[in-house]
Amino acid sequence: MDTQSEWNQLVFDTNKPAKWWHQRRAKIIGISFVIFVALTISVVLILEFSIWSPKNSYSTTTTTAQPSVWRSTGNMNTQREGHVAILLKNGKVLVTGGSDHGSCAFSSELYDLETGNWTITGNMSIDRCEHTMSILTNGKVLVAGGGSGTAEIYDPSFGIWIRTVRMNEVRHGHTASVLTDGKVLVVGGGTDSAEVYDPSTGNWTSTNSMHTQRYDHIATVLTNGKVLVAGGSELDYDGIMDSCELYDPLTEMWTVTAKMSHRRMQHSASVLTNGKVLVTGGLDDMRRYVKISELYDPLTETWTITGNMSFPRAQHTASILRNGKILVTGGMTESLIRYSTELYDPATGIWMVANNMNHVRVLHTATELENGNVLVAGGDGRDNSAVNSAELYISPKTISATINKKNNPPNSHKAPMTKRTLNKDGH
Ligand SMILES: *[C@@H]1O[C@H](CO)[C@@H](O)[C@H](O)[C@H]1NC(C)=O
Ligand SMILES: *[C@@H]1O[C@H](CO)[C@@H](O)[C@H](O)[C@H]1NC(C)=O
Ligand SMILES: *[C@@H]1O[C@H](CO)[C@@H](O)[C@H](O)[C@H]1NC(C)=O
Ligand SMILES: *[C@@H]1O[C@H](CO)[C@@H](O)[C@H](O)[C@H]1NC(C)=O
Repeated sequence: MDTQSEWNQLVFDTNKPAKWWHQRRAKIIGISFVIFVALTISVVLILEFSIWSPKNSYSTTTTTAQPSVWRSTGNMNTQREGHVAILLKNGKVLVTGGSDHGSCAFSSELYDLETGNWTITGNMSIDRCEHTMSILTNGKVLVAGGGSGTAEIYDPSFGIWIRTVRMNEVRHGHTASVLTDGKVLVVGGGTDSAEVYDPSTGNWTSTNSMHTQRYDHIATVLTNGKVLVAGGSELDYDGIMDSCELYDPLTEMWTVTAKMSHRRMQHSASVLTNGKVLVTGGLDDMRRYVKISELYDPLTETWTITGNMSFPRAQHTASILRNGKILVTGGMTESLIRYSTELYDPATGIWMVANNMNHVRVLHTATELENGNVLVAGGDGRDNSAVNSAELYISPKTISATINKKNNPPNSHKAPMTKRTLNKDGH
């Protein structure tokens, strides 16, 4: 059979079930179709990345099915655990202090998300662990306590630290919350006292004390401007609490609010886009690691149980993503340091296991970057000593605009607490 007869047979002999892909016309149509699909996909991708992608970091979200991944990034210059990280207004991440082989650091360094590199910046005047960092409305950073009552200010324009007025108390394991008027409320840390930093005067003023002394508690600024303080221990690891109180900046009064269902210290708290506060994990008064999570509703001032994490964990991190989900990473259960991560979906109240980090981490930091990715840095790693590695959680690409994150400014971050004294065997 020559070429011509094969052609004729295929085209005209419709009684025989000819293999359609041998047919030239079909080939042309098929190739055209493939080219058309490829072109369409290219156009959609170009649109998504260059035109539809959000320019404004505060407006976002609707996720695609694109999976998230963990990607290694530059190493810090120093190994750190129990350090503190904060996103500056220039988009860089400032990391300070933390412990390296038992001694606290006074160094600080900056992460540049464009290059993925860390650069050493000024030294603090004193070494700090279990301190706090708060970003002030002028873009400067207030660092307070961490084994002393000292405080200092970092100026990102010059990369320098300047000592400011001391707090009235020595604190570590305390919290610092940026109030809606820009003042900073510092609470507890082995005491029931509270004080307020006024950036306009550079002065600390004592305010009313809490009802209870607290250490390793959480403090969260609610959408109504009040501050929720929950759990913690009265004395280091003794007297772990389920009690909670609310601070009203207008009256400067503390009121006791509903108790959590569970006693917790070294837990995490995140303000959801609906204004509720998700609390998860921690260590309870029976020395058990907790996987139960619960929601505080500022309107009713009550707690409701929500989904359990897949794993109990304390000294983990919790970050709110652009899509409104909460990403929890690492932490520990007894002597086991975790690399697992989980996502909480506020719409369903369910936790889903997410991809593992490249390294196990506890007492690390997690900071959401301007591009929606999350930078995880340092912590104690596999051999139970501080590491300098860092990695990025690459968030699913997001399109369209639904969530207004202005109610959750990246205002104040508290290091997860050090002192894993429960592990007598050295873990
Ligand atoms: C970032 O680090 C890489 C590798 O260490 C280096 O080649 C590059 O020059 C650095 N970039 C900057 C801006 O420092
Ligand atoms: C910070 O202190 C260390 C140790 O004293 C010193 O080597 C380093 O040069 C200092 N860095 C800056 C930026 O001052
Ligand atoms: C700061 O507080 C001290 C003592 O409370 C007071 O004497 C001083 O005037 C205050 N400074 C400013 C600038 O408000
Ligand atoms: C969560 O965990 C607790 C304690 O392990 C258990 O009692 C409870 O039934 C769990 N809740 C859900 C919804 O799985």
